[in-house]
Amino acid sequence: MTGETGTTVLKLGGELLEEPDGRRDIATAICRLASQSPLVVVHGGGREVDAEMTAKGIPTRAVDGLRVTDAATLEVVVDVLAGRVNTRLVAAARVAGVEAVGLTAADAGISTIQRAEPYTAAEGTLVDLGFVGQPTGADRPVLLDRLCQAGLVPIVASVGADSGGQLLNVNADTLAGHLAGRLGAARLLIAGGTAGVLDEQGRTIPSMDMDLMHRLIADGRASAGMVAKLIACREAHRAGVGRIDIVTGTHTDNLDTSAGTTIQQVAQERAPVSPSSAGRAG
Ligand SMILES: Nc1ncnc2c1ncn2[C@@H]1O[C@H](COP(=O)(O)OP(=O)(O)OP(=O)(O)O)[C@@H](O)[C@H]1O
Ligand SMILES: [Mg+2]
Repeated sequence: MTGETGTTVLKLGGELLEEPDGRRDIATAICRLASQSPLVVVHGGGREVDAEMTAKGIPTRAVDGLRVTDAATLEVVVDVLAGRVNTRLVAAARVAGVEAVGLTAADAGISTIQRAEPYTAAEGTLVDLGFVGQPTGADRPVLLDRLCQAGLVPIVASVGADSGGQLLNVNADTLAGHLAGRLGAARLLIAGGTAGVLDEQGRTIPSMDMDLMHRLIADGRASAGMVAKLIACREAHRAGVGRIDIVTGTHTDNLDTSAGTTIQQVAQERAPVSPSSAGRAG
């Protein structure tokens, strides 16, 4: 890892982390990425939260991939994400030789989180999301910088706390996009269970601009968790993150060669793309 290389923010969908084999592959992928540049990992765990809710008889509800979070749901989200999913991933990463450190967005110097305003859904209705947090602020996440400078890899579970100490559920894509912007990251890499953004025939859309992104959300071709993902990419893009990809993270230990969707950079908004950052590797 060189100190001059821009940071990569890697977002991992929870379904990649459920089984030991998948965690082993992802841990190797983390190791590869961490050898190339400073790396910050953010993870979700939506399906494991759903399973735990079902086991506890708590109904689940989501709008555009954002979980409507009452007090009972919040307990499950915090227990599953900040507990089981985070700790297992940290342990797997360490087996792969990564000096990983498990955190949440509630840790000092990561992110100011505010309770989210009522959310206007893609289909137009206004929804109170409950104990859902929105990352705010523009200051550098100093703790993440320091950990990276020390050669450690922060692995952040997507829960946080507001200034009064109220724990909040934060969508992991939202947090990753926000942190990528605040870190001035060179790259936002979002790995999940699909080969990027899929069209109506289920084929990967290899590359998209902001206009196509908005059309996909508006006409429903992107729905559920993909809406939160695309909005997170838009935030990172606006904040100047140079390279943004949504890729599959299943059955691979090398996310640089994963199939997926590249978010096109707007030429007039930034300097010419250098050969080393043009397109997706592989
Ligand atoms: N056009 C689309 N292309 C791909 N996936 C889509 C699309 N529209 C909706 N989706 C859904 O979005 C899901 C991805 O979001 P989801 O929140 O479920 O997972 P994640 O964000 O990877 O994981 P986590 O929430 O645990 O971090 C896909 O599994 C798919 O069901
Ligand atoms: Mg999600």
